This record gives sequence, structure tokens and C-alpha cells, in this order.
Amino acid sequence: MPSAVVVGAQWGDEAKGKVTDILAQDAYMVVRYAGGSNAGHSVTSDQGLFKLHLVPSGILNPRTECIISDGAVVDPAILSREIEHLRSRGVSTDRLRLSASAHVVMPYHRILDRLDEETRAGKKIGTTCQGIGPAYTDKVRRIGIRMGDFTDPKRFPVVLRQSLRYNNKLLTNVYHAPPLEEEHILDEYSALGEKLRPFVRDTSWMVAEALSADKRVLFEGAQGTLLDIDFGTYPYVTSSHPIAGGACLGTGAGPKSIDVVIGVVKAYTSRVGAGSFPTELLDEVGDGIRERGHEYGTTTGRPRRLGWLDAVALRFAVMVNGLDRIAITLLDVLSGMDEIKICVRYKTPSGSIDRFPLRNEDLAECEPVYETFPCWDEDISSVRRYEDLPEAAREYVQGISRHVGVPAWLVSVGPHRNQSIFTGNAAEGLWIPGVN
Ligand code: GDP
Ligand code: IMO
Ligand code: MG
Repeated sequence: MPSAVVVGAQWGDEAKGKVTDILAQDAYMVVRYAGGSNAGHSVTSDQGLFKLHLVPSGILNPRTECIISDGAVVDPAILSREIEHLRSRGVSTDRLRLSASAHVVMPYHRILDRLDEETRAGKKIGTTCQGIGPAYTDKVRRIGIRMGDFTDPKRFPVVLRQSLRYNNKLLTNVYHAPPLEEEHILDEYSALGEKLRPFVRDTSWMVAEALSADKRVLFEGAQGTLLDIDFGTYPYVTSSHPIAGGACLGTGAGPKSIDVVIGVVKAYTSRVGAGSFPTELLDEVGDGIRERGHEYGTTTGRPRRLGWLDAVALRFAVMVNGLDRIAITLLDVLSGMDEIKICVRYKTPSGSIDRFPLRNEDLAECEPVYETFPCWDEDISSVRRYEDLPEAAREYVQGISRHVGVPAWLVSVGPHRNQSIFTGNAAEGLWIPGVN
């Protein structure tokens, strides 16, 4: 049962898209298990850059089945545009499947996301305003619309009426905003339902069959561990379960069916949106990393907050995900710096700690304690063998593994698929594309 989860180990944008695309080259199936169009996964192949929001990052591989599973929330307008865009660039979407149980992001969810944010006033989360929180809220309140119903012309009017009854009350009575018209939504969204209907399946059976037939199944996480609704820096989190366990919840795969968990770790830290960030660099060092790493949101274009690598947070990610290996990405961005730092402990008002605090307020009081590493001057973006990396770069990679407690399996030195170095530290059950 060679199956693997690719999970973001930080606050998102760790280059999960790139790592997924690499593994997808030799996978039978790639399953996007959580989140929605708040995600922006970049994949760069010889065909250029693709920014994927909902379609799994395996789609550039013509043989790979790509599934958007039960745990995701899907904006039909965005998915439909994404499919058209891929087709216009010659990428087949014939192997894309969409779970009948995935919940639909409706236009009122986007409006409510924005109104919720406005109401938070000085305590804004900084959401992507993609309607994610309100869509998951409706799911848990049991008034959500699922893909199976959305694409069924008989059921859609019934479930829409039910959902609108609640959501229009929210809009009008709580926010004093105008209600949305049922007829208007029915017109526009029935057409989208028609377009998406051919993709809809009971995907949990497809995943189960692939797993029991011993085919390589890759579960693609979105967001990051520290944005998890339960294990992240609440309330500055998303509304789903990005952690590796989310792959089970979001697909119906049993916990014993997962062989390997790979944490994607950016060589430094980035965060979009609000919330505590102990290693944040609010100076020209951070600005330099932002510019060299083109650290602007794939979904919203917002400048990302930047900081040094935080090994305390990463050890927490190792714990909650059960990471077997890490993939260290964007290492090339650090080339030419005066020095590099890793946060190894926190100083707090009540003493020094090496465990990540679970409360955002406690994290806000943490001051990082750093170990400093020398940097390298060389451009490493064309290095392909681990031993050809400058010594200082290897020392930094080893320093990360030592402080995090997990070996690195992949080092990424550029956005393109080929700008990847396999270290030779593969875990049992983990495949290297083109090799095993
Ligand atoms: P994701 O959401 O985790 O898939 O990550 P994003 O795609 O939002 O952000 C990662 C960004 O870094 C994208 O612009 C990638 O093209 C780019 N990228 C990925 N790996 C590397 C790398 O090793 N070096 C550099 N310089 N850029 C990379
Ligand atoms: P990928 O998959 C980075 C952040 C938002 C905000 C918080 C809640 O590309 O790594 P939401 O719209 O989900 O309610 O916003 O979560 N966020 C992300 N940050 N990468 C992402 O996805 C994110 N998805 C959500 O910025 O702080
Ligand atoms: Mg992203």
C-alpha cells in the first residue's frame, strides 16, 4: 500500500504544489483532501507556471487520476474557470473527479466571509475572502449544499431554498445586508452544476479501491499545520483540517492505509494573514527574502510576512502529523545572505521552553532563541546532486534536520520540477519519481 501524504508543516505556501507534482509523476492518484480556493498551489513544468486553487497538483501528469475529495469545499465558478484554463493550455482534465459529498461554496458564503471579517474590526483574521469559513460553517450546521445535490437539477432548487432561508436571515437580520435572490442564483449556478456534473463521483470508493489494489495514492494537503482549525494558532486559522489526519477525514481512507507522511518545510517561514509569528522579520532582512522569494500570495497577491525558520513550530508539526521525512524548499532564496538563523527554543516570561504553545496569546509572548549558521554565496539553483551543494548549504539542511528531528528527503532549489535534489534519505514506502 504505497500511499503518502504531502502536508504543509508551517503556515501554508511551503511549495506543496511543487512537491505533489514531483511525486505525482509516478502516482496512480492524487487526492486533494481539504480546504478550497483559499489554496494557491504553484507548479512549474516545461509548459510554464500553473497556479492551481482546487484542481490537484497532479493534473499536469496525463496518467494521474486527480480527485477533489469529500473534505474539500468547492467554489463551482472557480473550479469551472480553472478547468477551462487548463484545457486552454492543452492540459487534459479527463481524469479529474469531484466528490459528490464535497460541499459547495455559494455566493452568500463569500459575502458573509467579508462581513465576518469587517465585524472582527481590529481582530481580523485576514482570510482569503473565498467564503471558506462560512461554507464549512454551513456544513457543520447541516444546511450546506453538497456537489451531488448541486449537480442534480431536481435536488438543487430544494437544497438551495433550505440553505438560503438561513443565510438570507443572517445577511438581513445580523448584517443588515440585502438578501440574495433564489431565482438569480438558480439561473447562474444551475449552468455551473451542468458543467461540473460529468466530474462528480462517489470518490471515497475510488480512493479505497486504489488503496486496496496497492496503487500509489498521494494525498495533497492544502494550507499548513499551523492553520489547522484544532491544532493551529486559533483563531488565526482556516476552517478545515490541513494536518495529515485530515487526509483520512477528508477522503474516507482509514488511518492504517497511509504509509508515509512528508512535511513540506520552507527554508524560512512565511505567513499571510494575522496571528502570532515569533520569528517574524520586520526589517530589511525580511524584505530581502520577500523580494528574492517572490513572496506574494498566489491567491490574493498579498505580501507574505517573512521570518527565520522556526524549529519549535516544526517539532510540533512533526508531532501532530507524524512526519517521516521533510522536503526543504526555496533553499536557493537564502543564497548570498550574511547569515541564516534557526529558532531552536523560545524565551517566555515564565522561562525558556522548547514546546510550541497551543494558545496564540502564549505564542505572542515567545521570543525566539536562535542558532546562527553561515550562508553561502553561490547560486545553487542549478545544483542537482546533494554533494554538489556548497558546504554551508548542506550544514544548514543538516541543522534543520537535527533541530526538527526528521531527515530531509528532498531539497528544492527553484520552482521548476527539475530544480530538485533527492538526498538519498527515502523513507520506506516513499518513491522517487523515475527511480523506484
Ligand atoms: P503551496 O501553496 O504550498 O503549493 O506554495 P505556493 O505555490 O503558494 O508558494 C510557493 C512558491 O515558491 C511558488 O511561487 C513556487 O513556484 C515557488 N517555489 C517552489 N519551490 C521553490 C524553490 O525551491 N525555490 C524558489 N525560488 N521558488 C520555489
Ligand atoms: P496554500 O494551500 C497560506 C490563511 C489566510 C488566513 C487564514 C484563514 O496555498 O498553502 P481562510 O480564507 O482559509 O478562512 O483564511 O488562513 N490561508 C493560507 N495561507 N496559504 C494557504 O493555502 C492559505 N489558505 C488560507 O491567509 O490567514
Ligand atoms: Mg499557496
